[in-house]
Amino acid sequence: MTTKKKLNIGVVGCGYWGPNLIRNFNNLQGCRLKTVCDISESRLRHMKELYPATEGTHRFEDMLEDPELDAIVVATSVRFHYPMARQVLSAGKHCFIEKPMAASAAQCEELNEIANAKGLVIMIGHTFLYSSPVRKIKEIVDSGELGDLCYISSRRLNLGLFQKDINVMWDLAPHDLSIILYVMDEHPLSVNCQGNANITVGIEDIINLSLSFRNGRFATIQNSWLDPRKVREMTIVGTKRMIVYDDLQPLEKIKIYDARVDRPPHYDTFAEFQYSYHYGDLHVPYIKQEEPLKVECQHFLDCINEQRKPISGGIEGLQLVRILEAASHSLRQNGTAIPFFSPEAAASAPQRLDPRSTKKSADRSSAPAGSPRSEASADPAHAKVDPGAFTGS
Ligand SMILES: NC(=O)c1ccc[n+]([C@@H]2O[C@H](COP(=O)([O-])OP(=O)(O)OC[C@H]3O[C@@H](n4cnc5c(N)ncnc54)[C@H](O)[C@@H]3O)[C@@H](O)[C@H]2O)c1
Repeated sequence: MTTKKKLNIGVVGCGYWGPNLIRNFNNLQGCRLKTVCDISESRLRHMKELYPATEGTHRFEDMLEDPELDAIVVATSVRFHYPMARQVLSAGKHCFIEKPMAASAAQCEELNEIANAKGLVIMIGHTFLYSSPVRKIKEIVDSGELGDLCYISSRRLNLGLFQKDINVMWDLAPHDLSIILYVMDEHPLSVNCQGNANITVGIEDIINLSLSFRNGRFATIQNSWLDPRKVREMTIVGTKRMIVYDDLQPLEKIKIYDARVDRPPHYDTFAEFQYSYHYGDLHVPYIKQEEPLKVECQHFLDCINEQRKPISGGIEGLQLVRILEAASHSLRQNGTAIPFFSPEAAASAPQRLDPRSTKKSADRSSAPAGSPRSEASADPAHAKVDPGAFTGS
């Protein structure tokens, strides 16, 4: 889709991930990469060498004060997402925030309120929603080809990269969660999470997370920074067929297995009871090769020009952070299920935060996200999570 106006874009954060966003915005026809910003002298110098026509600054304020900038991309560490995005939106600029949206649901809510009040686009870097394999999986699931969805299991493992201020769940699970929510197309009823900090005290490097959905469906996520192999694998199991999605495969990322297990419709004696195992063909669908980040960046420009909500907007960002928050509660309680209120219950007894409590929570902008010790309460009564975001309220 073509954009109507050449938008001026600024990017803050030129560390590991920011340069990928910078490269893509620089290449897109519908915008001009006007400014890049980093407090690191060496990172900024490197970016200036790569993009000599682009302005560089150490001062984030320079971008906020630039009347020509239409939008700012925040690609700094999670703890800076909220304070920076808040300033971007308050300055009247559209904002793209890397995943996860912020360090708490209260922070996400406040950002959404500012964006709504000012009519600005807020988009979150849930990159996989812009990838061809994930789009294909969604298409296959929605077509009914898999039958009824039974469960999804996802593994994202690697040796490192160790983070200092967030645990492996806040680092990696946003990818798994964004895909699972997109494919399941509904919010979970509850979440459980267990994990362990093997290397850095207080920062989990291995977690197992499970989500319960309606009708007995569920999803599991395993994330690790302590595994000898790099694994990016998801299995989607339906009553008729199953998909294995291996994102590390260069070409055959999705395999559809015509495999299922049938129970006999009725039986009189145990001897008659026989499961019927069906092994059919293995099908590898054609997937268009396209860089997800390019599609994602173009989508941001389109949403600004066409004044529409992104596929991964503030609501989706908030939903995901609510799950991470609930999972952090569960982690502290050694895996206790943390239920979300049902939308019906939420409608009759909404748990909206009042401005004072939102402010109070949001002010914890420097709290280490993902560190279970950073959360205020270990009381299960406080752990029930308001799904206001899920109902779109
Ligand atoms: N979508 C994806 O697939 C994906 C992949 C990796 C990382 N990320 C996200 O990207 C974000 C950045 O991660 P990273 O690994 O690149 O982090 P990083 O630490 O490598 O880079 C962050 C950069 O921000 C700079 N910075 C910090 N404070 C600043 C300030 N006040 N003003 C200007 N610059 C400042 C730092 O100097 C650093 O260069 C995180 O939110 C992460 O979750 C997304």
